[in-house]
Amino acid sequence: MARSRFTNKVVLFLVASAIALLATYLFWSLSPEIKVLLNERMGASPSPSADTIVNVVKLFLVGIVGYLFVRALNALFFGLAFRLKRIDAPTLIRNIFTIVAFTILFLIAFTFLFPGVNLGALFTTSAIFGVILGLALQDTLGNFFAGISLQADRPFQVGDVITVGAHRHTGVVEEISWRAIKIRTFQNHVVLIANSNAAREPIEVCPRDNLNARVVFFNTLYTDSPAKTIHVVREAVREADNVSEKVTPIVRIRDLGDNGVDYEVKYWLEDYAKYNDTDALIRQRIWYAFRRAGLNFAFPTRTLHVERRRGGELRDGDGGAIAERLSAVDIFAPLSGDEITMLAQAAVRHVFAPSETVIRAGEPGSSMFVVHKGRVRVQVSENGRPRTVATLNEGDFFGEMALFTGEPRTANVLALEETEVLEIGHAAMKRVFDTNPDLVESLSFIMAERRQGLASQTDSTTISSDSSAGILSAIKRFFGLHQ
Ligand code: CMP
Repeated sequence: MARSRFTNKVVLFLVASAIALLATYLFWSLSPEIKVLLNERMGASPSPSADTIVNVVKLFLVGIVGYLFVRALNALFFGLAFRLKRIDAPTLIRNIFTIVAFTILFLIAFTFLFPGVNLGALFTTSAIFGVILGLALQDTLGNFFAGISLQADRPFQVGDVITVGAHRHTGVVEEISWRAIKIRTFQNHVVLIANSNAAREPIEVCPRDNLNARVVFFNTLYTDSPAKTIHVVREAVREADNVSEKVTPIVRIRDLGDNGVDYEVKYWLEDYAKYNDTDALIRQRIWYAFRRAGLNFAFPTRTLHVERRRGGELRDGDGGAIAERLSAVDIFAPLSGDEITMLAQAAVRHVFAPSETVIRAGEPGSSMFVVHKGRVRVQVSENGRPRTVATLNEGDFFGEMALFTGEPRTANVLALEETEVLEIGHAAMKRVFDTNPDLVESLSFIMAERRQGLASQTDSTTISSDSSAGILSAIKRFFGLHQ
């Protein structure tokens, strides 16, 4: 098909050349007679205009012959270069060759036929001609020179995939002419981007002889193991068509998303122009591989945790452990099982990170704490430096001073490690005090002891029964208990 078209073209060219040559030859040999005829028609004396008319026609005919000659030369020269050296000259170079060769031939013919006309002067003196030409050819020349610079720079070649232009057109380069870059998009549309526009825009080039990469995204449920997912997807992708064997695909976690774990697979293509098909094939392979391996895609989901609470039930699933912990606290030893359960229900669990402050000296407080898990340090500030007063372990309590007296917190309490504490509020303690008046007494003694520990180490005060009695009446006052 292509061959017969080529033959047709050659035959057509030969016929056109023969006609042009014949016409030129005939006109040339008959030109004296034509001149005489013209002179007779236009007037008796030989007129210069008859000469001019004949020469213009000669120039026209020579122009046609010259053009055909240059085309033949072009085909011969570049066809030969392609045959011998496998160099496929770009259209732009061919066009420039044609224009230059034709202009030279035309100028030679012109000076031969019109020896009296000074061509140089004609061009240089005509300012108006220059302005008109410049304005008319502004865009054309811009494209032409941009095309030349593209050819010189050779940022891409025919066959490469490029993304270019304000609308980010992507396609395979088909031709770079003196006016535009012609690309064929993946929808089989032809897009022409003027060279001057292309020269101004960033162009993304994926060269044909380069290992270009693509990234495809997918996701899994949080319950699916990343190590397994990565292995399964990598093996599925590397076997897909058009995926280069030279580089192993990379599968990695991109994000921990709302619906699942987001992954990306990066792979390298043998033929980048087929990336749409290959991306689709890879997604398909991932689907089948997931099926076989029991992996699941994540789709928008919400998991609702419904907490059902009935009256009298412990707030925490771990209620038994809390009650157990509270019953082991020495000051709560006199409490009955029901009272412990009541306290456990009222207790709120908090977790603190290592070094986090549980309570801060000077702040108001209306609850006490029991160390459930971990350890805390009681610190006071002395001369601007922290002094450790005590370290409390699991089963110890703190924060009772502010709770029972209504005074601000006397010390800082910090978690020494990840620590879980049980917070018991004012109301729950009051209920316990109402039924256990002895408890107030034992507490007041402990508090008096702790107060002494808080005093400067240089103080050598001993626990006096007075201070304990003072605390006792302060607690009773605060909780409105009988004195
Ligand atoms: P409160 O004053 O409410 O806040 C700081 C807490 O640190 C305080 O209650 C006590 O529970 C605790 N505390 C203060 N001094 C000591 C101490 N010497 N030994 C143990 N704990 C203390």
